[in-house]
Amino acid sequence: MKIAIVGGGPGGLYLALLTKKARPGWQIDVYEQNRADDTFGFGVVFSEETLEEFLHRDAESFAKITETFAYWDDIVVRYKGREIRCGGNGFAGCSRLALLKILQGRCKEVGVAVHYETPIADLARFADCDVVVGADGINSFVREAYKDNFKPALELKTNKYAWLGSTRPLDAFTFFFKETEHGIICAHTYQYERGASTWVIEMSPKTWAALGFDRLDENESACLLEKVFAAELQGHNLITNRSLWRNFPRIFCEKWWHKNVVLLGDAKATAHFSIGSGTKLAMECATALSDALVAHAERSVEAAFRAYDDARRTEVQITQHNADVSLAWFEHMERSTDMKPMQFAMVVMCRAKSITWDNLLVRDESFVRAFEDEWYQTYFEESGFDCRKTRPTPMFTPFKLRGMTLANRVVVSPMDQYSAVDGVPSDWHFVHYASRAMGGAGLLFVEMTCPSADARISLGCTGLWNDAQENEFKRIVEFVHGNSDAKICMQLGHAGRKGSTQFMWEEMDQPLTNPADNWPLYSASPIPYLPGISQTPAELDRPTMARIKADFVQAARRSDRAGFDMLELHCAHGYLFASFLSPLTNKRTDEYGGAIVNRIRYPLEVFRAMRDAWPPDRPMSIRISASDWAEGGITEDDVMAIALAFAEAGCDLINTSTGQTVPDQDPVYGRMYQVPFAEAIRNVAHIKTMAVGAITEPAQVNTIVACRRADLVALARPHLIDPYFTRRAAAWYGVKTQSTPPQYLSGMAQAFREAERTREKQFDLQKKAKPKHRR
Ligand SMILES: Cc1cc2nc3c(=O)[nH]c(=O)nc-3n(C[C@H](O)[C@H](O)[C@H](O)COP(=O)(O)OP(=O)(O)OC[C@H]3O[C@@H](n4cnc5c(N)ncnc54)[C@H](O)[C@@H]3O)c2cc1C
Ligand SMILES: Cc1cc2nc3c(=O)[nH]c(=O)nc-3n(C[C@H](O)[C@H](O)[C@H](O)COP(=O)(O)O)c2cc1C
Repeated sequence: MKIAIVGGGPGGLYLALLTKKARPGWQIDVYEQNRADDTFGFGVVFSEETLEEFLHRDAESFAKITETFAYWDDIVVRYKGREIRCGGNGFAGCSRLALLKILQGRCKEVGVAVHYETPIADLARFADCDVVVGADGINSFVREAYKDNFKPALELKTNKYAWLGSTRPLDAFTFFFKETEHGIICAHTYQYERGASTWVIEMSPKTWAALGFDRLDENESACLLEKVFAAELQGHNLITNRSLWRNFPRIFCEKWWHKNVVLLGDAKATAHFSIGSGTKLAMECATALSDALVAHAERSVEAAFRAYDDARRTEVQITQHNADVSLAWFEHMERSTDMKPMQFAMVVMCRAKSITWDNLLVRDESFVRAFEDEWYQTYFEESGFDCRKTRPTPMFTPFKLRGMTLANRVVVSPMDQYSAVDGVPSDWHFVHYASRAMGGAGLLFVEMTCPSADARISLGCTGLWNDAQENEFKRIVEFVHGNSDAKICMQLGHAGRKGSTQFMWEEMDQPLTNPADNWPLYSASPIPYLPGISQTPAELDRPTMARIKADFVQAARRSDRAGFDMLELHCAHGYLFASFLSPLTNKRTDEYGGAIVNRIRYPLEVFRAMRDAWPPDRPMSIRISASDWAEGGITEDDVMAIALAFAEAGCDLINTSTGQTVPDQDPVYGRMYQVPFAEAIRNVAHIKTMAVGAITEPAQVNTIVACRRADLVALARPHLIDPYFTRRAAAWYGVKTQSTPPQYLSGMAQAFREAERTREKQFDLQKKAKPKHRR
């Protein structure tokens, strides 16, 4: 076998080393444009877990690497004059040059030919090679040569960053946040060897331009940064090494190989430096590619590439997604600058989703306790609720909206049960809602309920246009109020163009099978939901607008009489009001179409009329889709305009969902994937929000509330199989502030005992599983 590797970075060299060791008879050549001791940047950093995971694949380089690396445990956040330290993180760093030297030395020892100062500009020279590897980094020539086949998606992120060095010693991975008159700047810093530290400086393009960096060269920029960070540098200078201002390129290639050419490392996928995983990804992929080549290449190069892709694709996507979330936080860091230092530090620690409240309890309990000292005090000052002694975790703190007080922040998200007959809630509904109220959530949402028969999604939807429906809801509400602390919210909605469809577990979104059963639909514009399948809705005219508004007002009055604590207008998921808000579904040319101020008009008219009919001391919310996950859809500016307009009309909370506007949406799913939208509204428009979507653990609920990403946290599917999610969480954290029905007291007492034991055991195991320090 003859293998040519373009690029002698960590990815290319590690691939060459591992493969040559496993197959000494193969000819492996690495082509590197630079000299052996040229390098850009300064240090690299890995988590200790990472070191354990993959570097031991070559015992000799592992030994050298572990000798060379500097180790530290703490992450420090320096902000508003405070230094906040969180331990238990386990990092190791070294200079990039040292890492490359070790790998270069090992490559030489095992017989890899590394050709320095050999830039590759033509792949024809590798015509006799069995395998060609593009390990040539972010600006990969190999990727570009076959870009039609690799299909790279490249997005230049907005923040400006430069990679510098310093002699300033640091005993922790330190984030310095510096507020300037033009915005905040972050320095991501760590010491990688005695007297040498990395300083990656990052800021928004607005701050960068306002500070004049756009007019400064490399040295002038460094001089200005030295002034800005004079206190933090403590008399040390900043050192440059091709420290140019860049925008981070987010790269992901749809295909990783073409014929006998394969991509590796940054060439195929990048991960933002704020999670320090670029080198790790490149070297882990090198390990997987080497294994795949050794196992399959002699028989079939394609089989080897497939095995490599299978082994790494999901892992790379997860790391990249985590990095994207972290990167997005840095793009919006000014949204957290009104926070007190401990909360700010908590947000920095938890920015990438993988670190949660429980995780931090294992890493460094004292950090969490220090956070609590400050957080409960601020919460007391702002809300009047005094939890400074009980410290029930943020999830179990009360929350007030107008005259309604919730016992905790957990919400049962609205879920259509498709089990009503003629819109009347059935025994199913009674048991379903009653048991979720017993489960301990602070607030229950009733499923989308329709103010007229033709507003329903399906024949099984609940309605609120007659007394029989009102009375059944009243029975449910009375049970909830009589037997639990839970509050209950009515969600009113109109299906719009997504009406007259089958149940969710049949053919979702498809019209009823018997054409005679279908009823006429309305929407903002006459566009069918599923082209060629769904009914074409009529464009809503003025008389029908007035009729629907009146329907909602009477349903609001019935909700009041039934005793509901809160009322929500459903303006999400492509239903009638959402069809007005999104530019994808609203093509009207009258005053209800066009700019966002017009698209809001009809939903707002209905909301205002409902607000007038709804008691002033009871809260109201709207549910919106804060993204359509589709080209040309709703923008963040639209979302802020919607939130502010409704707040002004008396809306107390934005229930922040996304999507389902158009069928050809392309959502980015993942843990807590809609939280950033709730966070944006919460911290930009300063309106209370509820987050929802793939939130499954109490630790996530605590993290979201602690980091002010949302005020309430709704869970839908988790509550379908576990109505007792909140009680179990109370037991897990040993929280005794929540009420329990007397009939269930003995069960709760046992749950507390069991949870305490399980928690101790689990935390202990997690602590033991952490890699031992080599310091
Ligand atoms: C500011 C910043 C900070 C970072 N911090 C960290 C960190 O702390 N931890 C971490 O793990 N990662 C970090 N990274 C990411 C890390 O640098 C890369 O992800 C990693 O180096 C990728 O390795 P690679 O082998 O794929 O590519 P590279 O390291 O980019 O290597 C590619 C090599 O190919 C060579 N080359 C390019 N084109 C040609 C050609 N045509 N012919 C011949 N040779 C060529 C280049 O000279 C280079 O040596 C950081 C990145 C940035 C930008
Ligand atoms: C069975 C089911 C029915 C739903 N019905 C409604 C509904 O009536 N109104 C609504 O706003 N959202 C509805 N949703 C969406 C959920 O409220 C929630 O936003 C979504 O399931 C994501 O949360 P999860 O990841 O916790 O399940 C429904 C979801 C499910 C699973």
